[in-house]
Amino acid sequence: MHIARRCERIAPFHVMALLERAQQLEAQGRDLVHLEVGEPDFPAPAPVMAAARAALEAGATRYTPATGLPALREAIAGHYRDFFGVTVVPEQVLVTPGASGALQLALALCVDPGDEVLVTDPGYPCNRHFVELVNGRPRSLALDPAAGLRVTASALEQAWGAGTVAAVLASPDNPTGNVLAPDEVAGLADTVNGRGGTLIMDEIYQGLNHEQRPHSVLAHTDQALVINSFSKFFGMTGWRLGWLIVPEALTEPLTRMAQNFFLAPSTPAQHAALAAFEPDTLAELEQRRQDLDQRRRLLLERLPATGLKVVGEPEGAFYIYLDASAVSDDAFGFCQRLLEEEGVALTPGLDFGAAHEPGRYLRIAYTVPCDRLEEALMRIRRFVESSA
Ligand SMILES: Cc1ncc(COP(=O)(O)O)c(C=O)c1O
Repeated sequence: MHIARRCERIAPFHVMALLERAQQLEAQGRDLVHLEVGEPDFPAPAPVMAAARAALEAGATRYTPATGLPALREAIAGHYRDFFGVTVVPEQVLVTPGASGALQLALALCVDPGDEVLVTDPGYPCNRHFVELVNGRPRSLALDPAAGLRVTASALEQAWGAGTVAAVLASPDNPTGNVLAPDEVAGLADTVNGRGGTLIMDEIYQGLNHEQRPHSVLAHTDQALVINSFSKFFGMTGWRLGWLIVPEALTEPLTRMAQNFFLAPSTPAQHAALAAFEPDTLAELEQRRQDLDQRRRLLLERLPATGLKVVGEPEGAFYIYLDASAVSDDAFGFCQRLLEEEGVALTPGLDFGAAHEPGRYLRIAYTVPCDRLEEALMRIRRFVESSA
């Protein structure tokens, strides 16, 4: 059987080895604090669950159009008006199988074999693998620790090569939680547009902005491809539903690709997602965001006493990226021993790229309530003190 060389270039998540060990420890009756997976402890909002049940009762289980239910495309466009203050028409919206589906469509649209795509390092690990899938070449945009691992227009300009055609950026960011200010986003959009490239802006964590209002790149340019999803802000990870917003002229080729690659996004999930924009749901989501913010503040206040140093300004999503170099010269080993000895699971920096000295870093996802975070902080502190 012939197997493509691509398979060798798709790296596993290092955190999976830790997760497997965590499950073994749990099976032995150990109490673990899970701070490794990018999925908070909230279920899908109640109105979404009710809409899903009603849709199934009504037999809504057949294919929808490839670009999604017209009513959902309209609701998403309305969300951009109400939430972000920008004008988007339903024809610009393609509903996809998660942000993952949107990223694949966006890259399939703008990458020819051999083209380079800039991906931030550290950054969301799947991006470079999606680039491999379309036979592009991921090019690291190494972020500067001195700049708090923030992506800047000058770093983007410098990293852009002769063969670069696109950049995948995110705000709020995974793994750093950094949130770009409107003028920073405008600068990045100008840089990519000035190079004649394509900006793929991943806004999946928009709405989980704890210090400033939600903000879309579409406030600055109509030339970006915008990735979003029901997974994070809307608390619907397992429903596998996201969307892509594009200039209207690109809807036609993307529709052809969506028809071929996916046929359609999940029908019951789309009916459920119609309830995601109801005032009751949005109120519940804002309550959850405040809850996340409280967790964030607790960690920011208490982490310094553990010896782990907060990197950048984690103002969004539910992540904090930490420099562990004051307490360990091997962050992966630190995560392994912390799990074994204290039962706290974190994600090692190795998962987020190779160009930014990943051995120094680890990520906390504040996906559990404050009392469990306090427990984790106590255990981390005890671990650091005992291994000093
Ligand atoms: C930055 C970023 N983009 C995209 C995704 C994929 O999300 P989805 O569940 O919508 O496919 C994730 C998931 O963790 C993410 O962190």
